[in-house]
Amino acid sequence: MKLPGEIEEAYKIALKAQENSHSPYSRFAVGAAIKFVGDEKVYPGCNVENISFGGTICAERSAIVSKVSQKGKGSVEYAVVVANTQTPTPPCALCLQVFSEFCDQDFPIYMGNKEKMLKKMTFRELLPFSFTNLEEGQSE
Ligand code: THU
Repeated sequence: MKLPGEIEEAYKIALKAQENSHSPYSRFAVGAAIKFVGDEKVYPGCNVENISFGGTICAERSAIVSKVSQKGKGSVEYAVVVANTQTPTPPCALCLQVFSEFCDQDFPIYMGNKEKMLKKMTFRELLPFSFTNLEEGQSE
């Protein structure tokens, strides 16, 4: 897949972050790189597992939390996710839900491995209906 220059750069950032993955339990190392609208920086993330498995955070959420901590909230422009798989690794449903708080529906998500980029999909394709209507369901 021919990538725009800036996506190529983000891909390298995701691969570098993947090297920091702490994944002794699953042995499934993931790296992410996320760019937000109006922010030059591309935020890296990796999965950080915990022996209490529920304490694990995915690469994508680690990148989002890092951005919000450093610069406040924003809207995702694009994301890159890499894993050591031959088929694309999409963000898990929990990560997609977290993305939904900080994005427009049509931002691209690129999925690849060390050798190549495998697939590009939009956020909307991966999560067509996210949970967004908390107010409507509130009781008096
Ligand atoms: N994981 C991610 O970091 N991102 C994904 O998109 C899929 C799953 C992590 C969580 C866990 O550490 C390991 O991969 C296996 O599920």
